[in-house]
Amino acid sequence: MRAVKIERFGDPDGMVMADVADPSPGPGEVVVATEAVGVGGVDAVIRRGTLAGFGFETGMVPGSEVAGVVTAVGAGVDTAWVGRSVWAFTGRDGGYAERAVAGLDDITELPAGLSAVDAVTVGSSATVAHFALAHAHFVPGESVLVRGAAGSIGISVVELASRGGASTVAVTTSSPERGERLRELGATHVLDRSGDGDAAAPERYDVIIDIVGGPATGEFVDRLAANGRMVVVGAVAGMPPADVAGRLLASFQQSRSFATFSLDTIPVPARNAARADLLARAAKGDLHAVVHDRLPLDQAAEAHRQMDLGTVFGRIVLEA
Ligand SMILES: NC(=O)c1ccc[n+]([C@@H]2O[C@H](COP(=O)([O-])OP(=O)(O)OC[C@H]3O[C@@H](n4cnc5c(N)ncnc54)[C@H](OP(=O)(O)O)[C@@H]3O)[C@@H](O)[C@H]2O)c1
Repeated sequence: MRAVKIERFGDPDGMVMADVADPSPGPGEVVVATEAVGVGGVDAVIRRGTLAGFGFETGMVPGSEVAGVVTAVGAGVDTAWVGRSVWAFTGRDGGYAERAVAGLDDITELPAGLSAVDAVTVGSSATVAHFALAHAHFVPGESVLVRGAAGSIGISVVELASRGGASTVAVTTSSPERGERLRELGATHVLDRSGDGDAAAPERYDVIIDIVGGPATGEFVDRLAANGRMVVVGAVAGMPPADVAGRLLASFQQSRSFATFSLDTIPVPARNAARADLLARAAKGDLHAVVHDRLPLDQAAEAHRQMDLGTVFGRIVLEA
């Protein structure tokens, strides 16, 4: 089968199409004939070689989120899965390929009416967004700030907070055009990356969901209202600095909270039930799959160039 390999870490041109052996399913696994492959921010981090010390080696096939049809099952898996359309998480690698392997715990059957392209756009991001808001103990009527809202996770947070009855959904983004698109998805106030730019926006928020992290994280801790909760779900600008703890302590009497959130901590049954529900909502049009571009699998390098340029709004999808 054809797959994209990282021949050398660094720029996108280090990724090449190659013929590789067809995968076979181990016990508890399925093989998915991929129709759509989500290009995630973490794929670009892996391609650059940033995680080379963590077991990611050249020759690997990147990608972890696919959708397509189950073509084979391993020992212990009901053969009724064969022929079904599923969303699948393939783990650390293996997604940028015509066929990919996933464990039974990591697949969700697609609801009627949801395309494979839309499934890989919301399957992971909406699930992360759902549990991040729950981790922040968000309740209707509260004000929410989404930092780094123009990516697939941020867009899902905006939609879920808006549909969930937030009094305000402010977003940070890098341009008025991106801000306008976020307003169409439910944002009420558009801020620049520093959190400024709209005099009518609240000064403080009950909930901040942060996909950006990096050096400015502490400045957003200062934007929390009394009893406010900030949850960091991504670190596209780097890990938050240590001064975050100092800022929390300096505002002791505000009873603020700061937390990280990883989907890895959610029990599998709860995670998969939420994903099935969110995919069903996407099929009904209650959540939007914002697809920035669809490219053939052999243009994975071009997809990564667009990621590196920072022009992507939502998600790029590769089609096998
Ligand atoms: N917690 C979990 O369980 C979980 C699961 C999956 C992924 N993740 C993490 O989530 C992140 C990827 O999420 P995503 O795909 O939604 O994000 P993304 O699209 O990579 O980035 C989100 C937005 O952040 C803004 N941004 C980028 N660099 C920035 C910078 N230096 N300073 C300020 N803003 C910046 C950009 O929007 P503008 O240009 O409009 O500002 C971008 O569209 C990764 O860190 C990944 O590891 C977490």
